[in-house]
Amino acid sequence: MNLILGIETSCDETAAALYCPRDGLLAHAVFSQVAEHAPYGGVVPELASRDHVRKLTPLVRRVAAESGVALSDLDGVGWTRGPGLPGALMVGAAFGRTLAWGLGIPSVGVHHMEAHLLAPMLEPDPPEPPFVALLVSGGHTMLVQVAAFGRYRVLGESVDDAAGEAFDKTARLLGLDYPGGPAVARLAAEGRPSAVTLPRPMTTKPGLDFSFSGLKTAVLHAVQESDGGPGSRADIAHEFQEAVVDTLVIKSRRALDRTGCRRLIVAGGVGANARLRERLTEEAAERGFTVHYPRLELCTDNAAMVAYTGYRRLAAGFRDDMDFSVRPRWQLSELAPPVV
Ligand code: KG4
Ligand code: ZN
Repeated sequence: MNLILGIETSCDETAAALYCPRDGLLAHAVFSQVAEHAPYGGVVPELASRDHVRKLTPLVRRVAAESGVALSDLDGVGWTRGPGLPGALMVGAAFGRTLAWGLGIPSVGVHHMEAHLLAPMLEPDPPEPPFVALLVSGGHTMLVQVAAFGRYRVLGESVDDAAGEAFDKTARLLGLDYPGGPAVARLAAEGRPSAVTLPRPMTTKPGLDFSFSGLKTAVLHAVQESDGGPGSRADIAHEFQEAVVDTLVIKSRRALDRTGCRRLIVAGGVGANARLRERLTEEAAERGFTVHYPRLELCTDNAAMVAYTGYRRLAAGFRDDMDFSVRPRWQLSELAPPVV
């Protein structure tokens, strides 16, 4: 197993990557559909599927050309099986499975959150399990205990909105463009600390679950009570970001204490947030644990993480048969562990 193609089409990014276990990541390319969906204020599933159809072949060609390899050199294909938008997933599934069939090589459907979780493995000096993973994306907020590759225990997760979703909804309330996370972070940098107060949901209760929908409602009230000017919008963005970051830091610390792990990895789109990285790095230095992040472009959706996860799963003996299926809803806890 020397050359693996990864394909990601679960939401609004089309991505392809080539991974080689000996040389690491050879190339990865992402086409973001942001401009396509921006006029609608969010992802339109049908448009996403159509765009994946248009962009996937050129992206695969591009990563092959950049790596100087031919598709006939491939040994395996990993594609995102779920969770995600059904039609969007089908595009990557059909493409990946058909390409593998044509080449007579194995393919495997990858869990998108396992892929996010393994993204830090693509960095120099990758963390060795056991560790705790804080997965913060647009659809999921989770703390996961990782005993070994494929052995995951979900310690806590969001009971309602995910952290990324809260960023996106707050952006809308503040009149910012989709996607909201980076836009809120930019506005937050102009806000004054503690000019408004928002709750840190579920941090005073024991446990490792999250809830962000109350915070979103609190943002709505803060917007209604404000004068609506740029200064007060920036103050709200600042406090919102602090509230989310505080919550994620408190729960991550609690998960490390509870499991006795001294390593934390952070992945998923919200993991690109500079304030979250800054706070966790400070916390790690103070409390004597290590924290690992993928580079920014591997925090948000990409196919490098899918190629790597595909490689790990194929190497562990996982294979798709011709009767492939997508899993738009798929819990990480349902994922089959490798047989050792
Ligand atoms: O992991 P991801 O790319 O896609 C999913 O699998 O959902 O995460 C996307 C989410 C979006 O909600 C986006 O607003 C958020 O990550 N995000 C950020 C930042 N960059 C992306 N949130 C906060 N700060 C950022 N810098
Ligand atoms: Zn994702």
